[in-house]
Amino acid sequence: MSNHVKIFDTTLRDGEQALPASLGVKEKLKIALALERLGVDIIEAGFPVSSPGDFDSVQTIAREVKNATVCGLSRALDKDIDACGEALKVADHFRIHTFIATSEIHVGSKLRKSQDEVVEMAVKAVKRAQRYTNDVEFSCEDAGRTHIDYLCRMVEAAINAGATTVNIPDTVGYTTPTEFGGIIHNLFNRVPNIDKAIISVHCHNDLGLAVANSLAAVEQGARQVECTINGLGERAGNCSLEEIAMILQTRHAMYGLNTNIRSQEISRTSKLVSNLCNMPVQANKAIVGANAFSHSSGIHQDGVLKAQNTYEIMTPESVGINKNNLNLTSRSGRHVIKHRLIELGYKESDFDLESVYAAFLKLADKKGQVFDYDLEALLFFSQQEHHHAYYELKYLHANSGKEIIPSATVCLKVGDKEITESAIGNGPVDAAYNAITKVLGHNLIDIVDFKLDSKGEGANALAQVSVIAEYNGRRFNGIGLATDIVESGVKALIYVLNNTHLADQIDQQKKQQVKIAGV
Ligand code: KIV
Ligand code: ZN
Repeated sequence: MSNHVKIFDTTLRDGEQALPASLGVKEKLKIALALERLGVDIIEAGFPVSSPGDFDSVQTIAREVKNATVCGLSRALDKDIDACGEALKVADHFRIHTFIATSEIHVGSKLRKSQDEVVEMAVKAVKRAQRYTNDVEFSCEDAGRTHIDYLCRMVEAAINAGATTVNIPDTVGYTTPTEFGGIIHNLFNRVPNIDKAIISVHCHNDLGLAVANSLAAVEQGARQVECTINGLGERAGNCSLEEIAMILQTRHAMYGLNTNIRSQEISRTSKLVSNLCNMPVQANKAIVGANAFSHSSGIHQDGVLKAQNTYEIMTPESVGINKNNLNLTSRSGRHVIKHRLIELGYKESDFDLESVYAAFLKLADKKGQVFDYDLEALLFFSQQEHHHAYYELKYLHANSGKEIIPSATVCLKVGDKEITESAIGNGPVDAAYNAITKVLGHNLIDIVDFKLDSKGEGANALAQVSVIAEYNGRRFNGIGLATDIVESGVKALIYVLNNTHLADQIDQQKKQQVKIAGV
């Protein structure tokens, strides 16, 4: 049996479907490219039939990603499989992932079909996917609660039909490690053609056992783990990629199994996903939490100073956390900033040094000392702002205080025009948002959530605003960062506006295509 465990990342599919607001194409592509750099074998990019936006994202990722297999999800329905094939055909290598539920409760109550009919649908779906590619994955949804006899029958039929990977999901996170490992063990012992496919697992974390269950399955011969960055996913999430990868790396002597994950990319990828998805990582989260490598008690600190391995089973550097010993201030030159960004894991092609340096100097003037998290945030936001955005903030002035009516004046670039408006509000952010509504000439953007966070420590922290806004029945994320709360709030709204603009453009293109096709 191979000693390579494939890492199948589903952050952009299972992870994304659980976000309070969906990601745009630009954000998804950024995450896909980071996953490729991290070394994942397969990127599940989305569910193409679900919306024109998802189709477009899967197609864009399929076109741009070269070193990982790009995969799309489909139910066991012709139209889903055809949408996957269409979206993915531009890729160098792609996979179609089709699934149907197999547990009694799902087959009876959800599908309302007989077990025989479900096997027939699965076989038909695998065969249809094969029209597009030989790389076909089949999943038995809710396998964790499926009777083992029926599961064996289904797995055998899917492999006979041509599935090259068969996935065993614990869809509702119900099983325990001994039980889940037992299911995989049984499949290896009872399915006669099991050696013709790779057995994959996809565990949810409802009881906090997703990683433990995946590991138990790997111990029994599963050679693909489906997982997500920061453990994002439906409800309590999926198996966390960084945890399973670091278990196999840290305990290599015990398991003797390898993955293609470049562990030094983990921290950077985790931050990118957390920022773009507007999903903070809990401080004590294994591997990527802010406290994962910090030692609090005096005894521990003393031990680590004497020998790092007294209290550290892996180094922070191994997951890409590099301590900074440079004091970055307005006196630091371009080459120091470039050097530090490269130390933090970025490539020269990731940033435009001139614009990052200009932003760095502005920030250093305001804050004095600039820390790593500031630098990473600057880079993140300068990348966001550098895409010839349709909406751009040109000028902002806000007034507020006790006994005065808050007011704001905002000038926005809208396409190739600049529009200035003023308004009052119940606070300076509200006033600025009202001024932006006047600029837009409509109030179709409904802010459903507004969160203010500090990025960094103490009085030196930057203000990060995350908003969720509803527009045309869809939810959009926006984030803004600045030393000033009002500016940060305005930037977050502009971020949303640019995403709604992009979504409108995609919808229009799709309508146009449908018209041309005469449908
Ligand atoms: O949890 C699940 O069963 C899934 C399948 C679609 C693989 O996400
Ligand atoms: Zn799932």
